[in-house]
Amino acid sequence: MKVTRVIALVILSMLLSFVSKRSVQAVRQGSSKRMFSWRGGSAGFGAGSTGRSSSTIASAAATAAALSTNYEDLTVLSQYTIAVAYQPKDREESNLFKKKHNQPLPALESPTGEDNAFVAVHQDGSVAVGVADGVGGWADAGYDSSAISRELCATIKHQFSHDSQAQPKQLLETSFQAILESPKVEIGGTTACLGVISNRKLKVANLGDSWCGVFRNYQLVNETAFQTHKFNTPYQLAKIPAHILRQAELEGRRYIRDTPAQADVYEWDLQKDDVVLFATDGVTDNVVPKDIEIFLRDQLEDKKSDLGDVAKLFVKEVVKVSKDSNFPSAFAQELSTLTGQKYLGGKEDDITVVMVRIN
Ligand SMILES: *[C@@H]1O[C@H](CO)[C@@H](O)[C@H](O)[C@H]1NC(C)=O
Repeated sequence: MKVTRVIALVILSMLLSFVSKRSVQAVRQGSSKRMFSWRGGSAGFGAGSTGRSSSTIASAAATAAALSTNYEDLTVLSQYTIAVAYQPKDREESNLFKKKHNQPLPALESPTGEDNAFVAVHQDGSVAVGVADGVGGWADAGYDSSAISRELCATIKHQFSHDSQAQPKQLLETSFQAILESPKVEIGGTTACLGVISNRKLKVANLGDSWCGVFRNYQLVNETAFQTHKFNTPYQLAKIPAHILRQAELEGRRYIRDTPAQADVYEWDLQKDDVVLFATDGVTDNVVPKDIEIFLRDQLEDKKSDLGDVAKLFVKEVVKVSKDSNFPSAFAQELSTLTGQKYLGGKEDDITVVMVRIN
């Protein structure tokens, strides 16, 4: 009986390590304060929910990494202006990956880390945009976890260019099916949050804990809900080779494999000057909507401000608080609520946003 219980516990902990999007280490460290590294620096965002006004940084120099061909930095159309900005978290070489493939971890070379984003403009004037956040746990197991989010974004973009009438959920379904059949992705898991904008309407499909919000007069009016199985474990689309699934089954383990059909869908009306934000959890684990409202008001009240610069500054500020051990991040606040202990500090992660302003 006791042995069975021990085995059950071992299986449970293995299960946890496989189902968790972030490495289990991060989750374990959640019980100590080590996970919030101290790098100093004061936050430009209002401190969590205190609503302190955000500071304006004189130099809006971009910290975003070099653009890869997958991304447009700024897309200006008559109806929309679209900016993409991102910064991957600091990563160390994975020895495991090197041993297996004798080359550096691809996520290290990806300008967006395991996150990815896309912007697709159709000639009929509609646009599709979105973000996807690759599951980090696969890197720990020696796999390239940046591939699935990158290929999913590229495929959605491609599909939309052929069919701009497709609903976001449909785009997600057909694109994920293509990923399952594509040799470009061996293994991996990802969240996805994407939207199609046409005729002042925004349709969104969300699977997992990335996020989309609509800001009107610098106030959040509509937003997606996070889909999670439990704390820090979002819904995710996964591609896992059959032999790995079989092995897991033999060992009594289970991988999380959600489907595009589980995506939540939304349809919202848009107005001139609305700002639509798509973000990975590197943003929403750190700042709360109130912080974003204050930031947008600060930066966009001057109608001449360049959306590309604003998006880059936004990412820069989120990166800063994510490294601030005193910042009451959304993640630390949730952890405090869950554990009954007081946590403070930002959460370092890949950080990616797509900002759309309705002209
Ligand atoms: C979106 O926000 C607008 C403005 O507040 C509101 O009227 C509308 O009901 C919201 N839509 C949904 C689906 O919640």
